[in-house]
Amino acid sequence: MQKKENNFEEGFNIKEFILFDEDIKVYPDATIGCETSIGGNTCIYDCKIGNNVDIGKNCIVGNYTMLEDGVKVGDGSKVWHYCHIRNGVTIGKDCNLGNYVFIDSGVVIGDETKIQNYVPVYHGVTLEEGVFFGPNALTTNDMIPRARASEGQLKDKDDWNVSSIHIGKDASIGAGSVLRPGITIGEKALIGAGTVVTKDVPAGAVVVGNQGRVIRYIKGYEPK
Ligand SMILES: CC(C)(COP(=O)(O)OP(=O)(O)OC[C@H]1O[C@@H](n2cnc3c(N)ncnc32)[C@H](O)[C@@H]1OP(=O)(O)O)[C@@H](O)C(=O)NCCC(=O)NCCS
Repeated sequence: MQKKENNFEEGFNIKEFILFDEDIKVYPDATIGCETSIGGNTCIYDCKIGNNVDIGKNCIVGNYTMLEDGVKVGDGSKVWHYCHIRNGVTIGKDCNLGNYVFIDSGVVIGDETKIQNYVPVYHGVTLEEGVFFGPNALTTNDMIPRARASEGQLKDKDDWNVSSIHIGKDASIGAGSVLRPGITIGEKALIGAGTVVTKDVPAGAVVVGNQGRVIRYIKGYEPK
């Protein structure tokens, strides 16, 4: 674990004047862009980090992971191997993103969120703090998905509408579940494994099945 000088572009800096070799570990094949800063006690495996990226203290960025320009990673957060974090994403503090997680441009992830392996979080999704995603859970953002525009021509970014999904704090999304575009999931809601969520979910509701239905409420969230 040594630094390889020629992977660092001009403007690379280390926060808090911590001695590079003592407190920050950068694996030899990591590439780090300019104006990027890294906090103390952070470990950067062999990965690709863009320009103007801000990585906090006590973080991990895994092998083959890519952090595009402008990404922010809060103190204590881990972005494990093979992740792709697109431009302008903000990851809060003490988050844990498993292998093969994809976070689309501009997504904001609240503190202490846990996202397990193979989860894509698409543009337009917002996560409050403490959200849990089980492995292979899916977000979506295009209600009428088409590869080509209506006249058969190639689609560009103006040929579709983003439908946002909002997930409240401490909500859990079970493994392999699918969240339809445009829905809101209330705080502390619990979505069962394999659920297809087609409607808004009230706070504290436990929802299972296709289509998702409420089977009970978490204690303290029962409707009056
Ligand atoms: C949703 C969940 C929390 C419900 O647990 P529970 O409240 O203990 O519910 P029960 O096991 O008593 O099941 C109640 C009913 O719902 C059904 N059910 C439970 N989970 C279900 C699911 N995921 N999909 C469809 N039906 C489900 C049960 O079969 C049962 O049906 P029945 O009353 O006809 O027999 C749990 O089943 C679940 O899916 N947890 C998420 C697991 C997960 O994805 N973890 C991710 C990290 S590995």
